[in-house]
Amino acid sequence: MLLLNKIQDIRKNTKEWKSQSYTIGLVPTMGALHKGHASLIEKAKETCDKVIVSIFVNPIQFGPNEDYNRYPRTIDQDSKLCESLGVDIVFAPTAIEMYGDNIKTSNNNYTYVCPPYNYVDCLCGKSRPGHFDGVATVVTKLFNITTPNYAFFGQKDAQQLFILKRIVKDLNMDINIIPCPIVREDDGLALSSRNSYLSPAERNNALTISKALMKIKQLYSEGINDVNVLFDTAIATLNPNIELDYIEFRDFTTFEKVEKVGKNTLIAIAAKSGSTRLIDNIII
Ligand code: PAJ
Repeated sequence: MLLLNKIQDIRKNTKEWKSQSYTIGLVPTMGALHKGHASLIEKAKETCDKVIVSIFVNPIQFGPNEDYNRYPRTIDQDSKLCESLGVDIVFAPTAIEMYGDNIKTSNNNYTYVCPPYNYVDCLCGKSRPGHFDGVATVVTKLFNITTPNYAFFGQKDAQQLFILKRIVKDLNMDINIIPCPIVREDDGLALSSRNSYLSPAERNNALTISKALMKIKQLYSEGINDVNVLFDTAIATLNPNIELDYIEFRDFTTFEKVEKVGKNTLIAIAAKSGSTRLIDNIII
């Protein structure tokens, strides 16, 4: 496995691979890899001849009061995991390699990819202004740098997945986006690099997020599909110490709000446990 941090070195390798007609899979990550990331890498290994994992804590997708500086950086451990999973290249660029000298980049002095307003001005985009512009921009750059045939994203970040699918379609990128299911701890907590911030008590409270989603799923299977009823059940299940940002019910094909849950409804929750913002969802 190669650990590369220069764009030109990635290009040398991908050119060589393309000349041999190998298919390339990209798994974009911000590192602090866990079993959720590993599941994406395993899927990429099954699907593609060559697999690149990018590890880059992308400054332009973090708001000024968010955890960019504090975000866990565990590159040695991450590289070992990637190697054990048969990854061909880990691409771990610096912010300067990705954005040049002006790292404090903004839409005013840098080309941004801005996803449709309708999909950005809601759910996580509402409380994280600019976040999805930052994600769309870095992922487009990573696509241009690594030229993948397939790119793998977790359903854990459902809004991100939805938006990236739209970008690929709207901008005619010749890339297959492969969605991957959410990996959870045995007790239901969705794996996240940010779980490492949680104290034992905060983790316990956070568990009620997945419990609320499971409760909704159970009630739906018993025939209850009214969003108001399901919303109230979720609220009653969440620990009162959890600071709720949203519970949303949306059609995962159109991203429109729904009043009745049905096939392909996304039920998404964002909430803080202590100071840690967590997200989770199910798709019916
Ligand atoms: P990051 O949070 O590191 O996540 C990288 C990928 O792993 C995303 O596609 C995410 O949905 C997936 N993932 C995270 N936790 C998961 C879980 N429990 N089960 C399954 N998949 C999971 O998402 C980002 O990084 C960034 O926004 C990025 C796309 C890399 C752009 O900077």
